[in-house]
Amino acid sequence: MTVAAAAPTPDIQAALSTLASAFASPVDRAEIDAMVKEAVANVVFPTRTVIERANGETKELSGSTHHKLADVTTAILAGEHVLMVGPAGTGKSTIAEQAAEALGLKSYSISLSPQTPASQLLGYMQATGDYVRSLFREAYEHGGVFHFDEFDNGHPSVLAVINGALANGHMAFPDQMVKRHADFRAVASANTYGRGATRAYVGRQAIDAATLDRFSVETIEVDEALENELCHSTGLEVDQVERVLAYVRKLRRNAEERGMTVVVSPRASVGMCRLLAAGRSWESSIESRIRRGLGDTDWAKLIG
Ligand SMILES: Nc1ncnc2c1ncn2[C@@H]1O[C@H](COP(=O)(O)OP(=O)(O)OP(=O)(O)O)[C@@H](O)[C@H]1O
Ligand SMILES: [Mg+2]
Repeated sequence: MTVAAAAPTPDIQAALSTLASAFASPVDRAEIDAMVKEAVANVVFPTRTVIERANGETKELSGSTHHKLADVTTAILAGEHVLMVGPAGTGKSTIAEQAAEALGLKSYSISLSPQTPASQLLGYMQATGDYVRSLFREAYEHGGVFHFDEFDNGHPSVLAVINGALANGHMAFPDQMVKRHADFRAVASANTYGRGATRAYVGRQAIDAATLDRFSVETIEVDEALENELCHSTGLEVDQVERVLAYVRKLRRNAEERGMTVVVSPRASVGMCRLLAAGRSWESSIESRIRRGLGDTDWAKLIG
């Protein structure tokens, strides 16, 4: 596209019309259209989620959301308990919070580990005879979305308690039987599908079939549009962000294709952008956020 300079003239009106005619030529318009289309096609917008309630009210969730948020929210609304499975850092915990917000329900969360005792779910009786309540009791009795983070890392005896809570409409807490609230929903997240440890996630428990059967399963992969936005929001210059994303995605692909146990999560890309924005060098940011002590042979395999 060329735009001829307008001939110098004191007549501003004439100058403007000369300029307008330069832009108005059909060839220029077609070129501009093509350029705009090409630019837009290369931009992937992160999902924004708007909830429309049955009474016609709408509510837009603040910030960007994972594109799977709508599926998870719909499943909860349909009365399902949901198990989100995906690699580390893909946004599962955030989806659990946002789904509760979307449904106007309180959000609770605990992270399970092999040492988490059942009393953390059920509460316990003190020597004085007073019952100490738990977050789970709050949600079970009064409604809310309860998120079991690291579900596949919980001790089987605790998973059995959860299974009992979901199987029945009531549950024996240390002080009394409690009826499950109609708005109680369980959401769980895990790095594995509950069939035991994988190469990347060692030490994960196999979840028994009866417990797994109570959940709708949603796979949560990396949402690249969301990752783009999180990286850009670090304030790092655009071309540097693009460099980080290209690098991280190449390593992520290599790790997958070569069956490596390394996890290159969106936390790594966002963390790298933060370090670079704070003035750290490219090499030292990679060392801290991506390589993290990986031996020479594995590193060569990952970046090769
Ligand atoms: N929609 C979002 N908006 C803003 N930040 C987000 C969003 N989703 C994820 N994040 C950020 O990305 C990081 C990872 O998200 P999150 O903890 O939800 O992932 P996860 O899948 O639960 O990870 P893990 O498997 O390790 O438990 C967090 O720092 C979180 O704040
Ligand atoms: Mg999590």
